[in-house]
Amino acid sequence: MDSELENFLNLMGEAERAGGRVLHELTALASSAELRELLKKVGHDEGYYAGELAAHVRRLGGNPSNRTGDFVDKVRALPDLRGKLELLNRGQRWVIRKISEQTPSITDESLRAFLIVMAQGHEMNIGALEAALARGLQ
Ligand SMILES: [Fe+2]
Repeated sequence: MDSELENFLNLMGEAERAGGRVLHELTALASSAELRELLKKVGHDEGYYAGELAAHVRRLGGNPSNRTGDFVDKVRALPDLRGKLELLNRGQRWVIRKISEQTPSITDESLRAFLIVMAQGHEMNIGALEAALARGLQ
């Protein structure tokens, strides 16, 4: 497969794997059941996207990366849950931006559709987390 596309999909996969790890850790820090449920759901989404990205790389003849992005350490370095969640959402926005930069040049229809839905899923999860933070959930 095209190595630029392979690198992009693997970068996204590493970011999603990092997101899944972060969300797993943040779920344990949340004190309200509602925030815990939301973080668990967002974490499952991240794991789903990581798995699908690897499957697309494999289908297109590339080698999926099994690395985890360094985002995990950046979130761990912050002291409070709210700061961690805000950084998480900034990371999620970065993923949407990267996808929107790449999507127009992607010719594989199934991959393009997956990426569009993945970006939409990120928008929804960012919005749900922002709403939870605005309501003061911890
Ligand atoms: Fe993500």
